Amino acid sequence: MAPQRLRVLGVLVLLSTLSLMAAPAAARGCATAANPCPRDGTVCTDIDAAPRWKCVCAPGYQPVTNLRGNRLSCVVAPSPPPPPSPDALRPFAVGLWGDLPYSVLQATVGMPNLIADMNAHDLAFTVHDGDLKQGSNSPCDNAMYAQALGFFNQLKAPAAFTPGDNDWVDCDRANNGGFNSLERLDYERELFFSTSFSLGQNQIQQEVQTAPLCPRYSATQPYPLGPCPENRRWVHNGVMFMTANVQGSCNNLCDTNPDPEEFAGRNAANIAWLNETFAAAKAQGLAAVMIISQANPGFDLADTTRAPTRDPQTLVQAPGQPADGFFDWLVAVRANTIEFARPVAYVNGDSHYFRVDKPLLDKNGKRIQWFTRVETFGDNQNTGNTDVTWLKVNVDPSSREVFSFVPMLVPNNIPTDYAARRMLRA
Ligand SMILES: *[C@@H]1O[C@H](CO)[C@@H](O)[C@H](O)[C@H]1NC(C)=O
Repeated sequence: MAPQRLRVLGVLVLLSTLSLMAAPAAARGCATAANPCPRDGTVCTDIDAAPRWKCVCAPGYQPVTNLRGNRLSCVVAPSPPPPPSPDALRPFAVGLWGDLPYSVLQATVGMPNLIADMNAHDLAFTVHDGDLKQGSNSPCDNAMYAQALGFFNQLKAPAAFTPGDNDWVDCDRANNGGFNSLERLDYERELFFSTSFSLGQNQIQQEVQTAPLCPRYSATQPYPLGPCPENRRWVHNGVMFMTANVQGSCNNLCDTNPDPEEFAGRNAANIAWLNETFAAAKAQGLAAVMIISQANPGFDLADTTRAPTRDPQTLVQAPGQPADGFFDWLVAVRANTIEFARPVAYVNGDSHYFRVDKPLLDKNGKRIQWFTRVETFGDNQNTGNTDVTWLKVNVDPSSREVFSFVPMLVPNNIPTDYAARRMLRA
């Protein structure tokens, strides 16, 4: 036995011998009225077979000790984590939509039909990936945002939203009213993102990017920096969802009044938010991550009509296009995906062409299988309301791929012959 233990034993023997001689058993220590336990979560307890009374921490309290291990007081113990419920990885469904509405017809007929259809399904939440209106010839006045808020709040399920270029970046086009883009973004921040809750008739609480990293509107530059309350994340049944303010019009580096200062701040904020979100997903052992933002950043050289093209290995933009602001973001998305090594879905709107593909390659040209890009439907005015529709994501956190995608053609928005044949089914 170590000398120290022998010494402790000796002290204990000495103490108990002394106390046995000193007083009758039942009256010793805290059991006497004269020497009660302090009121700090302690109870007086007979600590062994011999009647020896001592103040110990009451149930639900834990001792606070000093460096030498002596108890100083008892404090309320943190409640133990709830046992993992079998529901924690329960499958669920999500509704994705965006780039709507683009016309009076879509706003007055297409949208009510679409909202009714989403409301007829059991969705954990919905996410609109930006562009609350068409890009040109439609003013970014307050009434437009109010209309959008009205749509979101008709949705029964919690309604998340991430802004789009048509509802802020391109508001500076003369035919949209020649607004200051950043002022319009700040207006959206106030209207849609003033609390940590989603929109919709039922709401979920979300984590919000509160670090002061985003340029905020001022009439003079440099802009003051403030929070980016539109950047959010939330976990549902073991899967992480995040939004980031990544924009069309070259991420605000081309089109009317490009704004490199605004871009630089927001880009750094988006990358910080992405990194924190993946770190949280990793720390919590989550099954998958879904990233939702507006821009189609372009992932390769194949997509010449719908997005900027880039060398898929270096992610450097191909020559002959206006310089865009997607390189740093894509590099960070790729690095985080490789490191996370679990399914990652990247949801974008912007080019209004529904697709699910795997365009992301590593620097050696090997496809990154973890990564799936998902582009939502959106305006296709040539066919009226037919694309005023949504995408259902079935999420099964315990399944191999976690996400699967089902286009949901809204019965009342598609040609009646198709509808008549298909839409009597769920
Ligand atoms: C974000 O994460 C990537 C991948 O881990 C890393 O390369 C990059 O330096 C990080 N950026 C910031 C700003 O933290």
